[in-house]
Amino acid sequence: MTQNKLWGGRFTQPTNKFVEEFTASIEFDQRLYAYDIQGSKAHAEMLGRQSIIAVADAEQIIAGLDGILRDIEAGKVEFTVELEDIHMNIEARLIERIGAVGGKLHTGRSRNDQVAVDIRLYLRDEIDSVLAYLAALEISLIKQAERNLDVIMPGFTHLQTAQPILYSHHMLAYREMIARDTSRLKDLRARFNLLPLGAGALAGTTFPIDREWVADKLGFDGVTRNSLDSVSDRDFAIEFCSFASILMMHLSRLSEELILWSSASFNFIELSDAFCTGSSIMPQKKNPDVPELVRGKTGRVYGNLMSMLTLMKSLPLAYNKDMQEDKEPLFDSIDTIKGSLKIFADMIDQMQVKADNMRNAAAQGFSTATDVADYCVRKGLPFRQAHEVVGKTVRYCVETGKDIPELSLEEFRSFSGLIDADIYDYVTLEASVNARKATGGTAREAVERELARLKSC
Ligand code: ARG
Repeated sequence: MTQNKLWGGRFTQPTNKFVEEFTASIEFDQRLYAYDIQGSKAHAEMLGRQSIIAVADAEQIIAGLDGILRDIEAGKVEFTVELEDIHMNIEARLIERIGAVGGKLHTGRSRNDQVAVDIRLYLRDEIDSVLAYLAALEISLIKQAERNLDVIMPGFTHLQTAQPILYSHHMLAYREMIARDTSRLKDLRARFNLLPLGAGALAGTTFPIDREWVADKLGFDGVTRNSLDSVSDRDFAIEFCSFASILMMHLSRLSEELILWSSASFNFIELSDAFCTGSSIMPQKKNPDVPELVRGKTGRVYGNLMSMLTLMKSLPLAYNKDMQEDKEPLFDSIDTIKGSLKIFADMIDQMQVKADNMRNAAAQGFSTATDVADYCVRKGLPFRQAHEVVGKTVRYCVETGKDIPELSLEEFRSFSGLIDADIYDYVTLEASVNARKATGGTAREAVERELARLKSC
């Protein structure tokens, strides 16, 4: 037997067995089977409508494809490496099932535009489920914010106590990031939702196909405009991997904070036992495995983006076999972010806050020093001088082991005569937080306004 391959005609020697395995993609591209069939059915129907093949043949092909889909879903189909990829596995099975008429399916089409349409259909579906996961995480963050509006925590810069903030405000900061990720994902989805089928191998097809009809049938917003680009564009997959990398960067930051906050040193939160594990040697340990793993998985998602960019670098037009390597990084990024988002939405939802510990930490580190400076500014002192006054006040506090709100009026006035008894109204944690009322600030009323806005949109 020289060939039982769909492209065997030109060959006299059988493919080397290892080459066959090495070049095959069936092991990973089989996950595209439903999209391959969806695309083929639309193509076959169009061939019939355009009288490129007989309508009866098209109907037979479509019924055959439906049967194959059922068989695959019932676990009855064994894919083979000899048939290289999902496209040829399905086509060969079709011919086996309905006879020579199955060979008409590939009229006016190439695997190059076929794989391009399959990935787009697949990615579009995956994006829709990722969007749902993003929305769930957003809701968990908002619920945390709503449930804990009374909780004050230290806000940090350089991981040094900076100013007191509402814990709700901190949660809503992550909501902003997730909202931007969502908008990025929607943007890229809209950009690639165009039908590449009809590009053929690279130059288009000699048959009178109706691309617009197929695009409509498959839920695309239109058709791609250049056949060479249609079969060699993987920008959309790169954009997705880039979106996924930015998302994981955000999740890794949240992970890092959850890990710090659940340590004995911070002791700000309690993660549900369901998201932690114990140590095999230290009985006291409760390890925040889930955020640690998500932080770690960020690496592979960045790696996938690098793989994709490097894979596509300098490739001449149009299709090159290199491009078969686009699938595993894309699939891995999809799987990784879906898992991470799913687990994060639940973990955040079940997270318990240790309000007293957060508050105590916020009271340390002279977190209301800026409020004293702002007070002096309102009394007429230029900010730079006010900064100097408070700097000296803080040094005094460090030396005497006192906190700013504990200073007597005389002590305050030894640094600036502008300070009066009303200073005590400004240096409490509540006063400091609630003074920051402008949109985007941490004041309770600003955070409540933001929550109300989020609910209304
Ligand atoms: N398995 C191939 C891929 O994923 C399908 C396209 C093959 N085209 C070709 N001309 N060999 O890229």
